[in-house]
Amino acid sequence: MSSTEQFDVVDIIRAKRDGGEWEEAQIAWVVDAYTRGVVAEEQMAALAMAIFLRGMNRREIAQWTRAMIASGSTLDLGTLTKRTVDKHSTGGVGDKVTLPLGPLVASFGVAVPQLSGRGLGHTGGTLDKLEAIAGWSPEMSTGRMREILEDVGAVVAAASADLAPADRKLYALRDVTATVDCIPLIASSIMSKKIAEGTSGLVLDVKVGSGAFMREVDSARELARTMVDLGTNAGVATRALLTDMEVPLGRTIGNALEVREAVEVLSGGGPVDVRELTCTLARAMLEIAGVPEADVEAALDGGRAMDTWRRMVIAQGGDPEAPLPTARHTHEVRAEHEGYVDRLDALALGVGSWRLGAGRARKEDAVQAGAGIELHVDYGQRVVPGQPIATLHTDTPERLDRALESITPGIRIGEEPPAPRTLVHDVIS
Ligand code: URA
Repeated sequence: MSSTEQFDVVDIIRAKRDGGEWEEAQIAWVVDAYTRGVVAEEQMAALAMAIFLRGMNRREIAQWTRAMIASGSTLDLGTLTKRTVDKHSTGGVGDKVTLPLGPLVASFGVAVPQLSGRGLGHTGGTLDKLEAIAGWSPEMSTGRMREILEDVGAVVAAASADLAPADRKLYALRDVTATVDCIPLIASSIMSKKIAEGTSGLVLDVKVGSGAFMREVDSARELARTMVDLGTNAGVATRALLTDMEVPLGRTIGNALEVREAVEVLSGGGPVDVRELTCTLARAMLEIAGVPEADVEAALDGGRAMDTWRRMVIAQGGDPEAPLPTARHTHEVRAEHEGYVDRLDALALGVGSWRLGAGRARKEDAVQAGAGIELHVDYGQRVVPGQPIATLHTDTPERLDRALESITPGIRIGEEPPAPRTLVHDVIS
């Protein structure tokens, strides 16, 4: 290490390993030095594990978040003539809510700047889903993004490489060092990007259950509280909803299949849970943006949100009328006996869809636009022998066996109807 560096990273790692607290200058230095390549990957790996095991207090988390924001550029949306409000989901299976939500909220004159990512592992990515639409692209200059926000109101763009670059590097490292599911690291990762984006309002959808980072309501609540405080202290009006991710959202998992379902919601139909969550999040966003009386159901039923969706898709080069891609092969899963669907495990189905080709194992992999799972039943529904439960879609049928190894134990038919599930567990503001 160069003698001009302010600290020795080994001292910083040791301090956390032994349960100590860092000073602000140490945090600012270590994040910056990692971004510059002065702190090596193996040192940051040790440091991330020390944080995983010892935690960070609220002051340290806030300072860590600020250091990650300072690692790159920020986007100033303050000069837009509209109020801006964004939504971020901590990631789930079948979670296509971003697609109808942005246009729905934008149809009330609010700007919704969604900087999204691609899927990695069992949760899908918004960009992969929208890329199933012919011609649609998330690549654009900041100037063009502003134009679409002023004109249409909703945009879904790829987060640029210089927005919180420290997080980009650190997240890839956490992924391969078993340090992802750590509240201080998740909270600072998400909030550094959202604050750097420059939105004035933010609604967080913190998922709880088998298909989410947080399996238990208590830990999801702690994550939500940490993020809401980080946002509020940075001047972003922030609210969090804790929502269920024990079962997949809606009846489709996989890119084009999810776009189809999102369009159904925009047409006033679609599965009850997707519509309900879309409307609940839209109301929260519109309240933050100063439009508390908005009738969001009427905007879906009356075609106003759909108009904004079409304009958004066209503004990003897509053809909203083009048929969506379909997979070359399908496989039916049927009920073996009579009973009630008492397990539709989000993780098992998410992994199954990924194995069918809907997701990627490495960043550079391509995804199959038509691959995924289409459910024909809801959680708790009564079924008879032979009734179709799900259709699996893939271009590569040799993947079916591996997919079924995950999907089959994830679906169970029991004798008793299960207790109904709650969609929204809590709201933190
Ligand atoms: N999403 C992020 O952006 N970061 C995390 O750490 C987890 C989810």
